[in-house]
Order: sequence, then structure tokens, then C-alpha cells
Amino acid sequence: DPLTGTDVRIFPAPMETELLTVNPAAPEPDRIARAADVLRCGGLVAFPTETVYGLGAAALNATAVRRIFEAKGRPSHNPVIVHVADADEARTVVAAWPEAAQALAEQFWPGPLTLVLPRRPEVPDAVTAGGPTVALRVPSHHVALALIRAAGVPVAAPSANISTSVSPTRAAHVLRTLDGRIDLVLDGGPCPGGIESTVLALPHDGPPCILRPGLITRAQIEAVLGREVVVSSGTPQTSPASSSESASAAAPLPSPGLLERHYAPHAPLILASGDGRTVVQSFAGQGFRTGWLAFEDEDSANLPPSVHVTAMPRDPAGYAARIYAALHDLDALPVDRIVASRLPDTDDWAALRDRLKRAAVPR
Ligand code: TXA
Ligand code: MG
Repeated sequence: DPLTGTDVRIFPAPMETELLTVNPAAPEPDRIARAADVLRCGGLVAFPTETVYGLGAAALNATAVRRIFEAKGRPSHNPVIVHVADADEARTVVAAWPEAAQALAEQFWPGPLTLVLPRRPEVPDAVTAGGPTVALRVPSHHVALALIRAAGVPVAAPSANISTSVSPTRAAHVLRTLDGRIDLVLDGGPCPGGIESTVLALPHDGPPCILRPGLITRAQIEAVLGREVVVSSGTPQTSPASSSESASAAAPLPSPGLLERHYAPHAPLILASGDGRTVVQSFAGQGFRTGWLAFEDEDSANLPPSVHVTAMPRDPAGYAARIYAALHDLDALPVDRIVASRLPDTDDWAALRDRLKRAAVPR
């Protein structure tokens, strides 16, 4: 329980989950109104955002938020992100709105940047895991924005999956782990971004700190703020030359949930340190059905039939849009091992290195 700190157990499916299709470009008002009603009544609604599907509840309703933790089997020490319609609504739940927040909101909202700021007392402990801060973002997906506006209240929403499993970028991924555990799924098709937002802490007494790398890069944030941004230990660094000094100089902020196994498929995931093909051949030789997340220009010809190749784009945005669906698909085949070719070491791949590193943590 998020308030008492005891672990939440996963109970058998207690309810019927309703599925509503919505047009991602122009969501039907009656369907959005139906989902907003469920939220206002304390129910759980999964909805698409530009990053991944979120599992929403009315953020100022502690009972509703606790249901998110129950449905996900999420540990109560891991706080959830509050989704708001705009910066004005964000200011209604924070105790301070620094200049940096205003500048970043103007540049990146609506969009995949989450800001961690001091909370107001009316934000339930269930949302913040009892901490003094609240994480906020304005999503840019039409369905998410329409839903938040129709609900008329801030919406707490972690990713719509059982804790530690691969995040959902399609409605079918949501149903895979949450069918029977939540009230409603809005199916607005695939999420364009594909990985979670960047989580940035703005402490009043220190440099801005990336708690979770995401679609907005460190360089993009530094360009807006005109100052150095540090990366919390526990998240992979950019190239050593550009970041090791600054990152190690910063005191790491508390970043709940960041060190845990996460985003993980059922099959063990192996990050190739050199040539992916050699690793794949070795697993196939040992009789394992092996999935290979190869770059589309890598040589994947003449591999045994037990190898399933997924051709991944060479650009980080394209890779991000595909990665979770690729992992869900390999799980569904299924395969015994998943090998990912080594990702580039640059800042624009930092979020993807982070996700693959966490997905590769052994059970
Ligand atoms: O793109 C996203 O951010 C998606 C979509 C649905 O918006 N949401 C998402 O939520 O990924 P979730 O709960 O899976 O991840 C939330 C992250 C966690 O790493 C959590 O520890 C961090 O945000 N977080 C939330 N509130 C925090 C706070 N007050 N202080 C520090 N970290 C916080
Ligand atoms: Mg998550």
C-alpha cells in the first residue's frame, strides 16, 4: 500500500475491461467524454500518449491513484507522473514554479518532458510516494490532451503495464498485462514516440538533473536553460568525454525506481558489446530460438531458421518508435534469447541505451 509502505499483491482479474477505439488525429468527443466520466468517478483508463500508453486515474483522488498501484503491482515507493492540460494547470499542483520550469514548458510542452517540482499539500501521498515533489507533464497526443481537458482534473498516469514489464505502445500491449484489471482502454493506435518522457528534477539548490533520460535530450534542455544539466547516477552517461566530470560532481538526487529491472521482456536480453551477429550465431548454435534486434544495414543473411531478425532503424527516433513493439513481438513468438546490437555512444541514443540496459538486468 502506497501509504503504509507495505507491498501490493496482484489479485486475479476482478472486472470487465472496456475497449473503445478513438481517432488519434481527431478523437470522437463522445468517446472522450465517456473515458473522462470513468476518470472522474475514480476509475482507471489507459490512453495513448506521444511516448507510451499511460494508465490514468484522477490525480487528486488518493483512492483512485491507489488503484493504479494495485492494478500494476507497482511498488508504493515509486511515484507516478501527473498529466495536465497546460502550464497553468501544472501551477495548481506545485508549490514553486521557477523560471527554468517556465522556459522549459514554453519550449517543450506539450511534449515528452516531465518536470519534478515541489508539490502542494493537496497532492496525495499515493502520487508522490510520500515525497516532497511531484512530477508533471503536458502530453502532446491529441487523445491524451482531449481526455485531460474533458476530465477537468490532473491525471496521474504511469505506463499502462504490469510493473517491470515492457511498456505498451499499442492498445494490445496494454491488454496483454492489464485486461480485467482496469476499467477502460482508449485504443488510439501506436504511440509515435515509443519510449517514455525525459524526467528532469529542478531542485532550488542545485543544477537541473535528468532522473530518467527520454525523448528530449540533455543537449536540448541545456540549450534552453543556458546552463549545464547533470545526469543522475543510475542512468547511463553520454560519451565519457562530454559528461563524466559533471555527472560525478553532482550529488545524485533520490530517483525512486530508477535502479530496478524494468522494461524487460520474458526472454533474457543480451546487449552485444561488439558484433551482434557473432553473439546471435553462438546462441543459435546452442539450440536457442534467438531474436536479434539488428540495425537494418547489418548483414543478417544466411542465419539459421531459429534466428528471428528485427531490422531496427539507424536513427534514434525511428529506433525508439519500434523498440517496445519489437520486444513485445519477440516475446509473443516466443524466443529464448534476445540479442541487441550495440547502440551508438552519443547523447541522442542515451535514452535507448538506458532502456536496453534496464531490460537486460537478469531476473
Ligand atoms: O512518457 C511517460 O513519462 C509515460 C507516459 C504515460 O506519460 N509515463 C511513465 O510513467 O513512464 P512511469 O510511472 O512508468 O514512470 C515515471 C517515472 C519513474 O521513473 C518515477 O520514479 C519518476 O518518473 N517520478 C515520478 N514522480 C517523481 C518524483 N516526484 N520525483 C522523482 N521521480 C519521479
Ligand atoms: Mg513504467
